[in-house]
Amino acid sequence: MSARAPVIEFAGVGRTYPGPPPVPALRPADLVIRRGEYVTVVGPSGSGKSTFLNVAGLLDRPSEGVYRLDGIDTATLNERDRTALRGRRIGFVFQSFHLLPHRSSMENVMLSLLYTGAKRKERRARALETLERVGLGHRAHAPAGRLSGGERQRVAIARALVNRPSLLLCDEPTGNLDTTTARTVLALIDELHADGFTVLVVTHDPGVASRGERAVVIRDGVLRETDPASLTAEAVQAVQDAQAVQVAQAVQVAQTVHEEQTVHQAQSRCVR
Ligand SMILES: Nc1ncnc2c1ncn2[C@@H]1O[C@H](COP(=O)(O)OP(=O)(O)OP(=O)(O)O)[C@@H](O)[C@H]1O
Ligand SMILES: [Mg+2]
Repeated sequence: MSARAPVIEFAGVGRTYPGPPPVPALRPADLVIRRGEYVTVVGPSGSGKSTFLNVAGLLDRPSEGVYRLDGIDTATLNERDRTALRGRRIGFVFQSFHLLPHRSSMENVMLSLLYTGAKRKERRARALETLERVGLGHRAHAPAGRLSGGERQRVAIARALVNRPSLLLCDEPTGNLDTTTARTVLALIDELHADGFTVLVVTHDPGVASRGERAVVIRDGVLRETDPASLTAEAVQAVQDAQAVQVAQAVQVAQTVHEEQTVHQAQSRCVR
């Protein structure tokens, strides 16, 4: 069986912010993501996730190495061609949705199609079809500002998908959602992957990262591939640690209350 074509190819790609002092935010890395894969990148705050995402999403240029997107060496492109490549090949989904609140869901999705040259009627049809794909056909005419958080993120996903990009790049897609709503958005991302989309999710949450078929940990700018199942264990451990802290705090509160009661009883005995 022939290997699927690479979408992202990093060969020694690194990014150092000039400073002073210089910050090596992404150490030279090799990484290949192939068509149809679902890859997550997980790391704590300041580890280099946004730096990685900005380079992969053509929002920033690497300071070293070769980055090929769909086989195209991105270093050879001028700003205009990079913008065009980004618009055609990458669909972005951000933590804070970035929708126009007074425009309808459909208009928000149609905006992605403005530069394709498609006629308005076709743009409307494609936007509606994509909203239906994310389960929001019935909210096509509602202003985005009136939608729930989960619905807004699904409109944002529809906007990212409508151009049929090579890569869906998600930056903390569930960061602003409660646990239940986050689950529905993650289930939608799973479905899109099952439909054949190439998905890259950047997150600080090991539970979100464990859903990928491949996971990459980033620490101090160093990328290292890991088994997504190991992140599930890490997420469970994090919840257990948080629960242990809560229990310890509750015990402390109980002790304080007990001590106060004891003091109070002693005081009232003295008064009597
Ligand atoms: N423009 C910049 N100039 C200098 N240093 C920067 C710049 N942007 C980021 N950094 C530094 O690079 C490192 C990686 O930052 P980055 O924003 O990629 O982290 P992150 O993993 O996205 O963190 P978070 O989860 O908090 O968003 C940090 O030490 C940060 O302070
Ligand atoms: Mg960041």
